[in-house]
Amino acid sequence: MIKVCAELAPEIAGRLSRTHGWRVTRVGTRVRNPLLGMPDAWEQQVLSEFAERAGKGEAFPGMTRSELVTEPGGQYYRFMKAIAVQPQCLLCHGPSDQISDEIRTVLKNQYPFDAATGYKAGELRGAVSIKQLIPDRTR
Ligand code: HEC
Repeated sequence: MIKVCAELAPEIAGRLSRTHGWRVTRVGTRVRNPLLGMPDAWEQQVLSEFAERAGKGEAFPGMTRSELVTEPGGQYYRFMKAIAVQPQCLLCHGPSDQISDEIRTVLKNQYPFDAATGYKAGELRGAVSIKQLIPDRTR
């Protein structure tokens, strides 16, 4: 199970990134792996916006946001899709006193900066985030 979240998801993201030239990542509202899961400024802003939209009654499944963003390196298409906490995620992302000793030990050893616990089912866990460079046709 830890392998699905720890290896399969980053592996799929990495493959999509290589074959399409997109940067595909999974970011968290709180982060277990700061190297892969930390949102940048735009992503952080969209995560707060997702939480706000949920507060107004919109459901997380199907909640997305896209925007054309100009950065010093060029113009990018950016897209995010909300990820909600499911009951089965609590095994590893729930309140730490509810995580089994075995999993707690693995997490403590492998993720010394883990902040991705204490979630409740139905909360916003994070988002899938895609960033694609738009070719500059004027060059
Ligand atoms: C068996 C343990 C386990 C379960 C169950 C689990 N995760 Fe994770 N999750 C992890 C680990 C370990 C990582 C760190 C992965 C890495 O190294 O990038 C992680 C990372 C993440 C991240 C990336 C952001 C971060 O914190 O680094 C998201 C988003 C995420 N999980 C969502 C979920 C969701 C949604 C579910 C339920 C559908 C879920 N996880 C179930 C162990 C788990």
